[in-house]
Amino acid sequence: MSYHQANNTSTQNLHSPYGASDPYYNQSTGYLSPAMEEKRRTRGVSNWIKFGVPVAILVIIGVVVGAVVGTRHSKDSTSPEAKASASAAASSASVNSALNALATGKFATATNSLYMMPIYPQVTDTSVFVSPTFASTAKASLTWPSETFTPAAPAATSVRPDRPRLIAPQYKWSVLADHISNDPYLSYWNESIFGNATTWFNADPIPYVYDGGNGILDPARQFKQRAKAFSYAYRMTNNTKWADRLFTEIKNVAGNNTGGWGPDGDKWNSNHFLDTAELSAGFGIAYDWVYDAWTDEQKAAIRQSLIQYGLSFGVQAYTNSSSFIGWWRTNTTGNWNCVCNGGLTLASLAILGDDTTGTAEQLLGLTVNNALNNCAGGPTSDGTWSETQDYWYFGTTGYAEMTSALITATGSDYGMLNDAYKLAGYSHMYGQGQTQMFAVGDTGPNKFSSTANSIFFFASQFNEPVLALYQRDQYDAPDPWSMFWYDASVQGAFWDGLPLDRSFDNEIDQWVSMRNTWTDMNGTFIGMKAGMNQGRQTHNDLDCGDFVFHAMGHTFAGELGDGNYNALDYFSNDTQESARWTYYRKMTEGQNTILVNKQNQDVLARPVILGYDSTNDTQGSSSDFNVSSGSTAYWYANITSAYFDTSSLLRGVRYINDRTQMLVQDEITTSQSFQWRMHTNATVDIASDGKSATLTIDGDEVIVSILSPSNAQFTKSDAIRFSSDPTPPEPDQPNPGVTVLIIEMDAGTYNLQVLFSPQWQNGPSSVTPPSVDLANWSLTSHN
Ligand SMILES: *[C@@H]1O[C@H](CO)[C@@H](O)[C@H](O)[C@H]1NC(C)=O
Ligand SMILES: *[C@@H]1O[C@H](CO)[C@@H](O)[C@H](O)[C@H]1NC(C)=O
Ligand SMILES: *[C@@H]1O[C@H](CO)[C@@H](O)[C@H](O)[C@H]1NC(C)=O
Ligand SMILES: *[C@@H]1O[C@H](CO)[C@@H](O)[C@H](O)[C@H]1NC(C)=O
Ligand SMILES: *[C@@H]1O[C@H](CO)[C@@H](O)[C@H](O)[C@H]1NC(C)=O
Ligand SMILES: *[C@@H]1O[C@H](CO)[C@@H](O)[C@H](O)[C@H]1NC(C)=O
Ligand SMILES: *[C@@H]1O[C@H](CO)[C@@H](O)[C@H](O)[C@H]1NC(C)=O
Ligand SMILES: *[C@@H]1O[C@H](CO)[C@@H](O)[C@H](O)[C@H]1NC(C)=O
Ligand SMILES: *[C@@H]1O[C@H](CO)[C@@H](O)[C@H](O)[C@H]1NC(C)=O
Ligand SMILES: *[C@@H]1O[C@H](CO)[C@@H](O)[C@H](O)[C@H]1NC(C)=O
Ligand SMILES: *[C@@H]1O[C@H](CO)[C@@H](O)[C@H](O)[C@H]1NC(C)=O
Ligand SMILES: *[C@@H]1O[C@H](CO)[C@@H](O)[C@H](O)[C@H]1NC(C)=O
Repeated sequence: MSYHQANNTSTQNLHSPYGASDPYYNQSTGYLSPAMEEKRRTRGVSNWIKFGVPVAILVIIGVVVGAVVGTRHSKDSTSPEAKASASAAASSASVNSALNALATGKFATATNSLYMMPIYPQVTDTSVFVSPTFASTAKASLTWPSETFTPAAPAATSVRPDRPRLIAPQYKWSVLADHISNDPYLSYWNESIFGNATTWFNADPIPYVYDGGNGILDPARQFKQRAKAFSYAYRMTNNTKWADRLFTEIKNVAGNNTGGWGPDGDKWNSNHFLDTAELSAGFGIAYDWVYDAWTDEQKAAIRQSLIQYGLSFGVQAYTNSSSFIGWWRTNTTGNWNCVCNGGLTLASLAILGDDTTGTAEQLLGLTVNNALNNCAGGPTSDGTWSETQDYWYFGTTGYAEMTSALITATGSDYGMLNDAYKLAGYSHMYGQGQTQMFAVGDTGPNKFSSTANSIFFFASQFNEPVLALYQRDQYDAPDPWSMFWYDASVQGAFWDGLPLDRSFDNEIDQWVSMRNTWTDMNGTFIGMKAGMNQGRQTHNDLDCGDFVFHAMGHTFAGELGDGNYNALDYFSNDTQESARWTYYRKMTEGQNTILVNKQNQDVLARPVILGYDSTNDTQGSSSDFNVSSGSTAYWYANITSAYFDTSSLLRGVRYINDRTQMLVQDEITTSQSFQWRMHTNATVDIASDGKSATLTIDGDEVIVSILSPSNAQFTKSDAIRFSSDPTPPEPDQPNPGVTVLIIEMDAGTYNLQVLFSPQWQNGPSSVTPPSVDLANWSLTSHN
């Protein structure tokens, strides 16, 4: 974790809301110039690791520590010792349910691994798993009743007669307790939500914390989280203590508690509209879910503050051409459009009918069409979130909340449900490696109110049971949304019949995901990308050809992730001269690819995938899975257009030796010297002849060897810039513990082949494959 902790450079701003330490606040006017606003909106967010993971670890460990400890040290998770140790630590009903399920091999345990990946019990008895399906007849007690609100001519301004309207209509609440008592997942999630609600009940209201670049997004998201949890607890118990506590929180962010909250006027920070949108969404949920407990005075107060600090700024964003705050309305197929329209839509749907100002109605006439033109295009045609895998979380959460609320409140999705979102669930699954996400580009802000649970919504809406089966074992599954998006009639093993590999081929993204198993984090994973260096809302790196490699439970070739979002010009633009590309983590030098002449790649790159094939293995129903003999996959791309001074560069990657080894191959002709570079957290020991290097993490080893050309040798360095690089506007963050493995070559034509050979304990020994040109690669060319 030290890598992440080194990154928290923005924390000094945490307690200086609008203070002198905020260089972008104009003390005299209280507002920012458009140029300053542009800077501020594009400036950053604190590292999600800082808040997200430590808290999540506490929650998970607190609840399922027994199950995790019990399975972690034993290959056989259902062994008597594992169960005994687990039950000794078990203290709550949900743990018992989980363990009961685990004992029958049906419930993968949540994980306490560094990367928060599930640890699946290795079960060979295939009869305990069935093919993924929504088995409505087999489990009638877990099926939602059918919906009766289906207007013939739906309109966004015409809502269902009963409440709640948003996401969770009464017909679902009516059967939820029954579902909870019949399903270990729902039971565990219910208990987790109550656990958080209880913690927050006893905590102080959320403090106003203004973070220079990120505005008040963290407190806004915390408010939304509490609004969801308190509202849920109220509806599940009818106990008005939850409504009362929620109203304290509402008054707090409306500035009505002692001490106030934020500046007068633009309290919800419309300059950084995500903040306004998330607070509005929280108000909408609270208003709607707790409707029958609010007095008329409370309802009026909630509406009044919501319109004053939230929705009226939404109207400004849409209608005031001299205002900057609605920049996200135009040409923004990224998370901002989904989150901003989502928040305005939830809030407007909630108060529609009670709102006598016409604001809600006006906004609903604007947000749906705008989201269709922007948010609906968030994923590319192959389902990849163009802003990177990490922004998938924010974008799909905003999208799913908005679409789900429109469906429940008004009876239509208005075309928001499209094929790209159907595929978006799979791009997320394939983007998760064995140990962590294939984290290209920026890995951004706190995720605590944006989970991967949109995937439950996709599963139900697109009839894709695999997606629900996958997500229900993930650490972030507990969430009020999950209680309603998850269809508990789902059964089976997500991996049963699921292909191991997938190539994603939209010109913006172009990437491949390959693995040897879906259910053992000690397995192997390869990710490689080509794609464009622009068109990603400036969240990408200059990284055509970048790859990662996971094996034996570790990331041996990995990403440096996001830089400091608050650093000057970090998000300036994605042109060649942008200062963004002077930061080490964003420049080509900081990626696992070829670096020609120590220069950045061309931002106008248009790579082409030239070859992809796979033996197309699918995992069977057993979670203990070994690929069959001859199993392999390969992928290669023409990334010439990403380089200057280079007449050809084809880069490929493939599995060797039944997916236990990896070969990276570059066929290059360049008029400049170049480097092959790769970043690793491993200790790197280069052999005396320079032909191989041993990478070691926690005693596990991968030997990396140069097969060709014969005169090439490894060197290594720290992950720091060359002294000849242009100076960035602000210093880079350090990358402690990271070593760059390098092969440096003179100008010329080469076929560079680098073999990665994990040293498996009790596993297969390594082989040395033949040399084959990329053009002649086939599924059998390296046998
Ligand atoms: C991974 O392998 C290590 C031994 O190398 C073992 O201790 C650990 O339990 C394994 N993890 C899983 C999830 O099987
Ligand atoms: C949900 O969790 C709470 C807190 O543990 C518990 O009191 C309640 O009975 C649970 N609901 C159901 C339906 O099991
Ligand atoms: C509980 O709170 C933690 C910390 O904010 C969060 O990560 C987690 O998602 C929450 N879970 C639920 C069920 O609200
Ligand atoms: C809460 O009140 C509603 C409406 O009166 C009722 O249908 C529901 O059963 C009650 N729930 C609980 C947990 O008492
Ligand atoms: C906050 O106080 C203002 C001024 O008294 C009032 O108009 C508004 O309705 C209050 N809002 C809430 C949520 O209490
Ligand atoms: C439109 O926005 C500008 C810039 O923020 C502001 O000065 C002006 O008052 C706004 N117009 C209206 C009608 O609110
Ligand atoms: C939106 O993008 C399109 C296509 O790139 C471009 O033609 C158009 O000018 C852009 N519109 C705005 C307002 O930036
Ligand atoms: C180093 O480990 C961290 C997790 O602690 C991971 O996020 C990062 O990607 C790794 N870096 C490299 C270069 O593998
Ligand atoms: C891009 O940003 C750089 C600063 O990082 C600036 O010098 C350049 O003018 C900007 N280009 C465009 C087209 O905005
Ligand atoms: C594997 O699947 C891909 C995509 O469906 C197909 O193009 C290819 O021919 C298949 N290869 C084999 C060996 O079955
Ligand atoms: C997979 O291979 C491992 C190691 O060789 C072996 O222990 C295990 O039994 C195999 N599993 C299956 C399902 O063949
Ligand atoms: C690779 O792309 C370049 C243009 O960027 C093109 O000139 C070259 O012919 C391509 N090579 C192959 C093998 O497709």
